Amino acid sequence: MTFQQHVDLKPFNTFNLSAQANQFVVARSVSDIQQLITDGVFKNQRTLVLGGGSNILLTGSFDGLVIKLEIKGITVVYENEDEVILKVGAGENWHDLVMYCVSHDWGGIENLSLIPGTAGAAPMQNIGAYGVEIKNVIEEVEVIHIDTGKVSSFENAACEFGYRESIFKQKEKGKYIISSITLRLTKKNHRYAMEYGAISDTMKQLGIDKPSVKGISDAVIHIRKSKLPDPAKIGNAGSFFKNPSVSNEEYTLLQQVYPTIPGFSSDSNHTKIPAAWLIEQCGWKGKTFDSIGVHPLQALVIVNYGGGDGRKIWQLALDIQSSVKEKFNIMLQPEVNVI
Ligand code: EPU
Repeated sequence: MTFQQHVDLKPFNTFNLSAQANQFVVARSVSDIQQLITDGVFKNQRTLVLGGGSNILLTGSFDGLVIKLEIKGITVVYENEDEVILKVGAGENWHDLVMYCVSHDWGGIENLSLIPGTAGAAPMQNIGAYGVEIKNVIEEVEVIHIDTGKVSSFENAACEFGYRESIFKQKEKGKYIISSITLRLTKKNHRYAMEYGAISDTMKQLGIDKPSVKGISDAVIHIRKSKLPDPAKIGNAGSFFKNPSVSNEEYTLLQQVYPTIPGFSSDSNHTKIPAAWLIEQCGWKGKTFDSIGVHPLQALVIVNYGGGDGRKIWQLALDIQSSVKEKFNIMLQPEVNVI
């Protein structure tokens, strides 16, 4: 492993923000990570483990070691007529993995097409889109303990997955590095998730008359491309905030004041409200401030049009958060990790 000094992290974060890291190293295997542990790098300084850099906001230089995870490999661990169990290195690009599965007609992650980032980062925040979350297909998550270098696995239930949550962001935060994930996918009798109206409408629009793994993936890609900015062109980290959940009573009260407020039942007592709607009602959608702003087509996405500053993006997020709190008495929680 080669340690580099004073590396600009701009190519390694989808917000496309310049931020200097004191030291930078690429880890390509479990034994690379174990070597770093033996060398004591996690004890002596701040460390930041980077996957695709698609869910972070860098607000300044990083005074420590950045470890870019590039553990690769997609292996069929087991398969029968109905299912395939796939082990995927943490550093594999998520969308490339989805495309690989779609090309084999393996079902389960087609709704998660075009999500930026790596396979290893996906369970961390239980990525989700269009009615599917990665928790639906995770068999286990292999991890390396940062103190001991010991490799072990968390089975699905042990990951304590929730909406954009897992044990790796909560109780066990900072204790492990995810080295691979194992997925259970269908080879036939696929369970298509099409309850998101936009999927069936888009399939019709694209002339896809029968649901298929590829058809759903194509529809999702079409929807995402039409609404969400491509991080390769406009810096962003997807949804900046999580969709808040309020009690059904609170939701009813809000409906009395704002009859058009959208809401989706998240459990029998709670309703999830689209943060994008709340932000749009506060007048932020499409607003720009120098080189940063709120995306004109999706109010939940904060963008860097080029040359933006991470601190200014964070200030904009805080301003959005306070205006939503003031108008609706709802405190939005960031989905993005602020560094
Ligand atoms: N809406 C607005 N204004 C907008 C956009 C949306 O009012 O500018 C309202 C509409 O009522 C719309 C509703 O918000 O029906 C939901 O919008 P959308 O389907 O675009 O989804 P979202 O709730 O804003 C979530 C995820 C996305 C995921 C989509 C599709 C979160 C935080 N975000 O967004 O995930 O792609 O659903 O399933 O849950 C991400 O996490 O980075 C991400 C992009």
